[in-house]
Amino acid sequence: MEKLLYSGKAKQMWQTDDPAVLRVVYLDQATALNGKQKDHFAGKGQAAKAISDLVFAYLKDHGIETHLIKQLSPTEELVKKCTMIPLEFVTRNVVAGHFASRYGLKEGQSLPHPVQETFFKSDQLDDPFINASATTALEIASQEELDQMWALCQQVDDLLTPLFEKAGMRLVDFKLEFGRLADGHIILADEFSPDNCRLWDLQSGDHLDKDVYRRHLADLTSTYEEVHHRLQAAIEEEK
Ligand code: ADP
Ligand code: TMP
Repeated sequence: MEKLLYSGKAKQMWQTDDPAVLRVVYLDQATALNGKQKDHFAGKGQAAKAISDLVFAYLKDHGIETHLIKQLSPTEELVKKCTMIPLEFVTRNVVAGHFASRYGLKEGQSLPHPVQETFFKSDQLDDPFINASATTALEIASQEELDQMWALCQQVDDLLTPLFEKAGMRLVDFKLEFGRLADGHIILADEFSPDNCRLWDLQSGDHLDKDVYRRHLADLTSTYEEVHHRLQAAIEEEK
């Protein structure tokens, strides 16, 4: 019998009969302000999952290990169950969002090198910023593990920035999460969709990510569907 382990802001995680495998269900909902604002969007779960699947398959093809095992339906998949490392790894290529508001900057300026920021994953605490010495002192991860995860973030950025560019989009920033498997080794988990990255149209500068919901700019599901179609075409073109 399956058991619902966790119902989050975008997905449900179900324990399957195999203790090492979870069934993920992508939900038709979006949240902002750390869950304080929540709305239903028909088709959003399917569109977000379709994008994340394309990205994770692309990363796997380029040597990055992810939790993905297999697809079950347009909204469900099986993944390797991890002990999640409670950190959000944010990589920024362009000034936007909290980086702009925190430092009093206008959005849009390219950064001379990617900025790496780590946040402690806690809804109650509003995901506070955390640095490396706090992370190691609190035994959340060792320095070697942090170095390894940041190197993976850099690899993801190096692979996805040109891919999204081919798809006519600027990869402004993105958030990754990692987990440990039973033998302790670290893999990329969670998802990569416009829920946790910023994508701007290369020509118009239009937002093609969850900011359309946060800032009431456009329909969320059709925006994600557009990202999916463009990304699929760019990946096909590379083959
Ligand atoms: P949130 O927790 O931010 O509301 P979601 O609704 O996306 O986010 O919930 C998915 C949850 O499952 C997240 O807390 C994420 O850290 C966790 N998770 C993602 N991949 C795995 C995995 N492979 N094994 C265990 N937990 C995972
Ligand atoms: P920020 O500018 O709001 O800090 O967001 C930076 C990137 O991280 C952006 O692509 C959205 C993503 N992100 C998440 O996925 N989850 C979060 O809780 C936050 C704050 C940001």
